[in-house]
Amino acid sequence: MGTSVRTRGCHAPIDRCHQGLGRRVGRWLALSGRAVTRPVELDAAEAWTRLLGVRTEQDALAAGLVEDSEGELRWARSASPEAVRLAELYLPLCLAGPRYVIAQLGQSLDGCIATRTGDAVFVTGEEDRCHLHRLRALCDAVVVGADTAITDDPRLTVRACTGTNPVRVVLDHRCRVPHDRQVFTDGAAPTLWVVGCGDTAERPEGVDIVRMPCDDDGHAPGRILDVLAQRGLGRVLIEGGGVTVSRFLQAGALNRLYVTVAPVLLGDGVPGLHFRGTERMRDALRPPVRRVSLGADTLFELDLGSPAAEQ
Ligand SMILES: NC(=O)c1ccc[n+]([C@@H]2O[C@H](COP(=O)([O-])OP(=O)(O)OC[C@H]3O[C@@H](n4cnc5c(N)ncnc54)[C@H](OP(=O)(O)O)[C@@H]3O)[C@@H](O)[C@H]2O)c1
Repeated sequence: MGTSVRTRGCHAPIDRCHQGLGRRVGRWLALSGRAVTRPVELDAAEAWTRLLGVRTEQDALAAGLVEDSEGELRWARSASPEAVRLAELYLPLCLAGPRYVIAQLGQSLDGCIATRTGDAVFVTGEEDRCHLHRLRALCDAVVVGADTAITDDPRLTVRACTGTNPVRVVLDHRCRVPHDRQVFTDGAAPTLWVVGCGDTAERPEGVDIVRMPCDDDGHAPGRILDVLAQRGLGRVLIEGGGVTVSRFLQAGALNRLYVTVAPVLLGDGVPGLHFRGTERMRDALRPPVRRVSLGADTLFELDLGSPAAEQ
């Protein structure tokens, strides 16, 4: 509901009232022949295009950002609230350097990332889907576990915003993922299929096979990241599911974790994060967090610092 104002007979909501006034003044100025040059506000689409090109502070300055008195980067010119929000949310990632690992999960209030049948369409809302696609666009590679590739048959491309598709990586040391999955067949972006050393899996056409040694828990997350970095894929998004993200978290291989919580209860669904925790509450992992509203959902952005896997 808008706020009503009572000025000169206007009972419209305050923003509509101001729009009407602006239009009337504009028309009067046009009729009176006086040119009006109002600064054009930076909108969300333009802000996002600029952010996509930022990898260093120099890029940020070239993109129209300036440091404010508190040392924070902000748009130099007037910007829409959404353009401001995009910079606040994604600049830390843009400026994180060439080797950086993030993970994401969209989960229910009771910690599930899909129903018990594996249906994950959609746990969180449209704004979180857009956020996920933005994360893909800011990374060189996007990684999923075998069960996500089998159950969801995801494309892992950037569609809800502009940006380049990352290289798709499927962790499947037992070669369980069928060859007809979209990541293997649609040709929308390169795909790496990470399998065990002993496997003689036939390679789906157009897909690169990476053979890696395994221990009981599959491939060590740090080794996977080294192999990707050797191929120039230093910024990595671990997209899911719960088993895969949990292994990277447990290994201390993540810099940042995005968990979006939707106000829905799934009961006996597929669990999200699951790892060996601490015995005492006071020793629990409690990293610095930022909370952001995404429509009806809440995004928790956890800053996990420098991953142990890199030290
Ligand atoms: N809401 C969300 O954000 C979201 C995101 C993604 C997926 N999902 C949902 O999550 C469900 C699947 O998740 P999930 O937790 O069951 O499984 P998952 O993480 O997708 O896949 C787990 C499997 O991938 C392989 N794997 C993972 N890490 C590996 C490693 N380091 N080395 C070797 N292999 C590795 C293993 O295969 P093996 O068993 O052969 O060892 C492992 O059991 C689906 O229902 C999907 O719809 C939800």
